[in-house]
Amino acid sequence: MKKVCIVGASGKLGKYMVQHALDHGYEVVGVCRERSVVKLDAFKDRITLYSGPTNDPNLIKKAVEGCSGVLTVLVPWGVQQYSSGTAQAVLDNADLDARLIFSCGWHITRDGKDIYSKSFKAMVKIAGWVGRLFRMIEIDDQVEACNRIFASNTRWTVVRGSDLEEGESQGLPVWSRHVGDPMLVSNMTRRIDFAQFMVSALDNDDLIHEAPAIVGCQTESAITNAGKK
Ligand SMILES: NC(=O)c1ccc[n+]([C@@H]2O[C@H](COP(=O)([O-])OP(=O)(O)OC[C@H]3O[C@@H](n4cnc5c(N)ncnc54)[C@H](OP(=O)(O)O)[C@@H]3O)[C@@H](O)[C@H]2O)c1
Repeated sequence: MKKVCIVGASGKLGKYMVQHALDHGYEVVGVCRERSVVKLDAFKDRITLYSGPTNDPNLIKKAVEGCSGVLTVLVPWGVQQYSSGTAQAVLDNADLDARLIFSCGWHITRDGKDIYSKSFKAMVKIAGWVGRLFRMIEIDDQVEACNRIFASNTRWTVVRGSDLEEGESQGLPVWSRHVGDPMLVSNMTRRIDFAQFMVSALDNDDLIHEAPAIVGCQTESAITNAGKK
């Protein structure tokens, strides 16, 4: 049985990924903050859990040992370089041939060729400004985290999520290399399906060194533009 590690396992996306990974038959190792261990109670007999800050290299080293895949939730919380610290700990400690899958949002651009609407750019700017003001979030650090991943020689995929909603699965999201593709216009994905995309990427070599921007496969823009590429 292949072993995979989920870094940020206790969050909403993380818990869905734990379930999908178990459903795929993977042996699952989770990493989450000490205070959040309780959120994984439903899985406690089926996964191995390491608790602590996800940007602690020693913790990550223990958790990813022997894992053929690592799924990492990158979040810009706090002003402590949490995203870049987490990404770096995974990049430095995962097995060299492991598949590394990271989550983030559409605001991350790999090659600058994404085309964003004015409202999207304004929203990111305001979130960054308010986040810095209240020392709550550090969007720039999530950008830094992804730049380090893009520059690494690991077998990475950075999955860029649209706006998210809860609800029953609609199927595997569709993706494009660039925001601005008409297929993505609906800008909505079910969180459960985002998680499925992350887990499926583990054995999809076509996604190595890609930064897919995803959208729900049942959204209007996905249906209207299906097969047009
Ligand atoms: N929300 C959206 O609309 C949206 C849109 C596009 C992309 N995304 C991406 O999707 C992924 C999951 O995002 P989500 O919004 O669905 O959240 P989520 O899955 O609930 O994940 C939040 C994560 O952040 C951790 N966290 C929360 N507060 C923290 C703090 N103060 N310090 C350190 N860690 C903290 C949580 O850990 P605990 O369980 O320990 O609290 C959890 O692992 C992220 O990569 C995000 O960039 C989200």
